[in-house]
Amino acid sequence: MKAIPNMKQRFVLLFSVLFSTMLSAQSPAVFNVDVAHPGADISPSMWGIFFEDINMGADGGLYSELVKNRSFEFNKPLMGWKEVKKDPASGSILIENRQEKNAANPRFAHVTSHAPKGEYGLVNEGFRGMGLKKDLIYDFSVWTGTTTGNLVLHAELLNAAGEVIGAASLVPVVSNGWNKQTVSLQCRETEPKGSLRIWFAGNGSTDVDMISLFPTDTWKNRPGGLRGDLVQLLADMKPGFMRFPGGCIVEGHDLSVRYQWKKTIGPVEERTAIINRWNYEFAHRPTPDYYQSFGLGFFEYFQMCEDMGAEPLPILNCGMACQFNTSEVVPLDQLDPYVQDALDLIEFANGDATTAGGKLRAQLGHPAPFGMELLGVGNEQWGEQYVERFEVFQKAIKSKYPEIRLVSSAGPGSEGEQFRYLSKAMAGLGADIVDEHYYQKPEWFLQNAGRYDAYDRNGPKIFAGEYAAQSDRVVSMENKNNWRCALAEAAFMTGLERNADLVRLASYAPLMAHVDGWQWKPDMIWMDNLRSFGTPNYYVQKMYSTNRGDRILPVTYKNTPATGQDSLYASAAFDKTTNEAIVKIVNASGKQQPAEIMLAGAGKLNAAAKITLLQSNNLELENSLDQPMRLAPVEQTATVKAGKLSTVLAPYSFAVFRIKLK
Ligand code: AHR
Repeated sequence: MKAIPNMKQRFVLLFSVLFSTMLSAQSPAVFNVDVAHPGADISPSMWGIFFEDINMGADGGLYSELVKNRSFEFNKPLMGWKEVKKDPASGSILIENRQEKNAANPRFAHVTSHAPKGEYGLVNEGFRGMGLKKDLIYDFSVWTGTTTGNLVLHAELLNAAGEVIGAASLVPVVSNGWNKQTVSLQCRETEPKGSLRIWFAGNGSTDVDMISLFPTDTWKNRPGGLRGDLVQLLADMKPGFMRFPGGCIVEGHDLSVRYQWKKTIGPVEERTAIINRWNYEFAHRPTPDYYQSFGLGFFEYFQMCEDMGAEPLPILNCGMACQFNTSEVVPLDQLDPYVQDALDLIEFANGDATTAGGKLRAQLGHPAPFGMELLGVGNEQWGEQYVERFEVFQKAIKSKYPEIRLVSSAGPGSEGEQFRYLSKAMAGLGADIVDEHYYQKPEWFLQNAGRYDAYDRNGPKIFAGEYAAQSDRVVSMENKNNWRCALAEAAFMTGLERNADLVRLASYAPLMAHVDGWQWKPDMIWMDNLRSFGTPNYYVQKMYSTNRGDRILPVTYKNTPATGQDSLYASAAFDKTTNEAIVKIVNASGKQQPAEIMLAGAGKLNAAAKITLLQSNNLELENSLDQPMRLAPVEQTATVKAGKLSTVLAPYSFAVFRIKLK
């Protein structure tokens, strides 16, 4: 016997009949994809990542060293360290400087102990604490120099309450020279805000330097390596390229603290630590303990690119310091060392073993070339000083390495006088690729999806090198990584893909931020000492980079490209490896919209299509450390019949459809 529906059930039934009648009455948005006439190729490195040591991105982030100020090189040499002693007479510390002997790493600590029971020690607070994991082995190391007496050094992992959760000891070698000593410790508890304590027991003295603690679960288990969870998030994106090391950090506040790649390779104890420009850049976000150890240097960078299959895109200083700061420039007749740095980097990355650079790379453990093809000259430079300097680099590099494609600056903005001047000048110089930056409101991204549709095809190619929708305004502390911003970026990116003949590279910026140590918001990935998560912006980037395709497919909506008519945006690509048409559609309105994707000239199609969907009705939605997947893509399927995929575009949604050709 059939059950008679109650009032509530009848209401639901009536409502759903009415609703589906309304929907079917609404005429579908029709997207015509011309599979028979693929357009230009899409660069294999189209969707990449931009890395800069900002927001504790490297030290305190990707570089998994847990000890802050390990070599006492901060302006305040004991910043990050605290002496612990039960009795004033139990020991002392003296910072010494051997500048004349070791200019790269001048300072070390001379520790004297009169504490037979181990009552003189030092505690390192880490980068906003140390993330320690239960059962994990940690590698402790220290360089000890001149040592007298009978000292024992105890290393202890502490939890936030100061209790010992791991310990090991070593006896410093009695010597007159420097030796690296290591010991491993196992941690008994998981602690996000731990610290390291070292005790000196016995009577005597020793010189100590490079006091270091690393987890062993680094990326690919490399000793002294990178934080595995963070590299994994990047590798999951299958990035086409990795821009490094920035950003303004390339330029430096002044030239003395510019990024110099040669000082970032070789043994870590020989890499000169310097102050990070983001230490003091923003009065509203001072970070006095932010320095660059360069433990994540150029060799590690190239290695990471190789691990992820990403093309390296280094950016070098062009003889100009940050123009928002000092605007220092190197006189044109003294630019040679800067140009030489660029030539040497190419040789280091690509040279064979007969070249000095190739030999050095082999000595560092990588005999095979890294295959670098792209190089950026200057970051956000502008004005004629830049044009003059870029020209010098261009001549020198192109005459020796014509195959290297150079990325040049379009300045910090994407419109206005400076931008127009530089765009014209770069076109005049026959520049290969120009780097455009847009930190704009979400509305700008929605309104500019057609930005490149009518761009000059005879000028330089475009690198959308830094972009992020700002929910408030640039450098505001209120900016959010919310769905509103991510959706606007997704819409804008349809325009990048549609114009992939011109736009060859694109990357969101900045990449990473530590929840307790950031200077700049929004950022694609957030972390604390143990956890990390991708923002909605991360998932948008990932949906593009893992659904790239090789050729542009023309898509029209009402006979023109979909650049926001009816709040709809679309682009498409063909993936020759999988033989699939990949269609990306953004519905930026709060209304559900029936839609049809018509695939012309595709021949027979598989009936089952895959959909990856990122959607929320709540534009303010953000992910967090506690809810890392609040907004994340979901996989769905759709049916294709007679060359047509019928679907319903959810409100505020970004969908990627993969439709297989038979
Ligand atoms: O991404 C943060 C900063 O924004 C970069 O360092 C700089 O290039 C831009 O101004």
